[in-house]
Amino acid sequence: MTQAQSTQDQNSAESATNKSTAPNLFSPLTIKSITLRNRIGVSPMCQYHSVDGFAEDWHLVHLGSRAVGGAGLVCVEASAVEPRGRICPDDLGIYKDEHITMLKKITGFIEQHGAVPAIQIAHAGRKGSTKNPWRGGNRHQKQDVPDSEGGYDIVAPSAVAFNEGSRVPHELTIDEIKEIQLKFRDAAIRAQKAGFKWLEIHGAHGYLIHSFYSPLANFRKDEYGGSFENRIRFFVEVVDQVRAVWPQDLPLAARFSTTDWVEGGWTVDDSVKLAKILKEHGVDLIDCSSGNIRSGDRYQMGPGYQVPLAQKVRAEANIATAAVGMITEPHQANEIIASGKADMVLLAREFMRDAYWPYHAAQALAGELGVEPKTVLPPNYTYAI
Ligand SMILES: Cc1cc2nc3c(=O)[nH]c(=O)nc-3n(C[C@H](O)[C@H](O)[C@H](O)COP(=O)(O)O)c2cc1C
Repeated sequence: MTQAQSTQDQNSAESATNKSTAPNLFSPLTIKSITLRNRIGVSPMCQYHSVDGFAEDWHLVHLGSRAVGGAGLVCVEASAVEPRGRICPDDLGIYKDEHITMLKKITGFIEQHGAVPAIQIAHAGRKGSTKNPWRGGNRHQKQDVPDSEGGYDIVAPSAVAFNEGSRVPHELTIDEIKEIQLKFRDAAIRAQKAGFKWLEIHGAHGYLIHSFYSPLANFRKDEYGGSFENRIRFFVEVVDQVRAVWPQDLPLAARFSTTDWVEGGWTVDDSVKLAKILKEHGVDLIDCSSGNIRSGDRYQMGPGYQVPLAQKVRAEANIATAAVGMITEPHQANEIIASGKADMVLLAREFMRDAYWPYHAAQALAGELGVEPKTVLPPNYTYAI
């Protein structure tokens, strides 16, 4: 039994048998050799603030202030494993050894303030070379950036564009597939050198990995397309490459689009099957997101709308999960943990609004959980407030 499994089993057993000892939002979470001080994580969020993939002072301040604000996990945005794997030309990358220096400064600062530094390694696939959101791109309609403005050729399992405004990707050959998998491996090596203690593979939101496993974007006829086993092959092999170099005692997470929300698309039952397989291949936690495989698809979103997906994957694949998506309220977040729906919560936009969300959540839950809000912030602040 892996340590992640034993932690998850223990949490499930506790929540089933004894409410008073059930974990809450401020309980530590241990996976492998890493303990988060609470169950609150900063979800990866692209900042569109890089040139040639380099992290800048912006990233140090943006991520560092959320560590100061009390998060247990601070995850660096989708970081491309090769230049053409950036969603936008101004995305972060981890495809050069030179990227390590600034990333190391960021991980050092995050750790110094009690949070665990994580990074999401990613490849945009057919959603690459697009304008960033405030220059005309959005998640439904991607706008190509021409080569003259820094755009680049893109790749995918099949030569089908995401939408009419984006490029037609080159269909990857088998050799090229293997090369990209090695780039994920190299990115994991750099992540460790940069001091990250938690690694997430981005397998969601219509990017390269998701576009392999979803039948809505993969039309291949070879061993990487067609059946469920063939469509997940790319993801499983990426995990194998990464797990071979990422230290065994450090957590490896995978973000899924747990459902395409579309008839004929990837389903949450598929996610349960895949989670079981990836667990066997050394993945410790599934970060349960959803959607974004095709530009025209629409689905209902609302508070905590993806929590049932995390709950199902956790219960049926017996693996730790993170719940994400429109989690904004302290009581809502605490209920997700206390009722055993997920092992941790990840917040994105709410952390943009409030870097001190964990402190404010501790204030809101102090009476109920007996948590002392001042323990959430560094002494530099708490002695004075
Ligand atoms: C500005 C922004 C950038 C994002 N960048 C990423 C990213 O790099 N990787 C990723 O997997 N998801 C990304 N997401 C999705 C978030 O991680 C999160 O899953 C989503 O916003 C739902 O959570 P929320 O309702 O708390 O914002 C991004 C979201 C926002 C708002």
